[in-house]
Amino acid sequence: MREIATELRGLRGALIPILHAVQEELGYVDQLDVPVIADVLNFSVAEVHGVVTFYRDFRREPAGRTTLRICQAEACRSVGAEELAAHAKRRTGVGFGETTYDGKLTVDEVFCLGNCALGPAVQVGEKLHGRVTPARLDALLGEVR
Ligand code: FES
Repeated sequence: MREIATELRGLRGALIPILHAVQEELGYVDQLDVPVIADVLNFSVAEVHGVVTFYRDFRREPAGRTTLRICQAEACRSVGAEELAAHAKRRTGVGFGETTYDGKLTVDEVFCLGNCALGPAVQVGEKLHGRVTPARLDALLGEVR
């Protein structure tokens, strides 16, 4: 992580690109890397920690093998995205930003998947799905390994 941070520290506003690069490498930003990044940028640990915890984009623990992202932006909310999220929570036992106990699935909210005309929209892994009903979501979750 020191190598990544050192390589990118010359960028303007380097902290965010460094955190994205770290997350891309590891899948999350490990708490143990925060002091390393702070050292490279000559920031306080509290400053880096504050950014990691402020932005929801940064995960602080490894994600599940598959990520379910449920759009919660306006167009999808107007056609049932909130109810779909509540159904997902009942079905999986986890809320946004959480991972199932078996490490199979992480559930996240997202604000627009570019599929607004076909809401509610969800993404399972890399695949986008539109007009997702609770029953369809159950079927999609049944395919998750
Ligand atoms: S608002 Fe949900 S995909 Fe755009």
